[in-house]
Amino acid sequence: MPGLTCAGCHPQANADATGVPGAPDWHLAPLSMQWQDASDTPLASGEVCRAVVDRSKNNNLDGAGLVKHVAEDALVLWAWSPGVRTDGTARSAPPLTHDAFVRATRRWVEGGTPCP
Ligand code: HEC
Repeated sequence: MPGLTCAGCHPQANADATGVPGAPDWHLAPLSMQWQDASDTPLASGEVCRAVVDRSKNNNLDGAGLVKHVAEDALVLWAWSPGVRTDGTARSAPPLTHDAFVRATRRWVEGGTPCP
């Protein structure tokens, strides 16, 4: 809504007493990084892969920048400590550790960021 930015409601860290998640600079990814088409259908993995490595869409990140992004960006890290929902139950984390995710990203970058 106009005038209501994400950070207007979302704090710098999870507010587990209320279930409102938060992290520094809370925001949506820009449209250039969208992983679904205009009718909300998820893109095929090859399309997502090509979008992730396209420097005109990915905030001009090269391979080293992509590794740094997944290793250190506060919003990426939030996914592994997403706090609790409004009913007090834990939000789910990704199905691999952050360490494994960073290692897999590094291996993919070292392999030349191949896309299916
Ligand atoms: C008017 C206040 C408000 C604004 C503005 C707002 N949020 Fe939220 N958001 C909430 C509250 C309250 C919750 C917790 C309730 C819930 O999880 O459904 C929440 C939950 C979330 C969650 C977790 C959802 C889940 O499945 O657990 C995400 C992700 C999120 N917001 C992202 C955003 C983003 C990105 C923006 C800006 C585009 C935004 N929010 C703007 C109030 C807001």
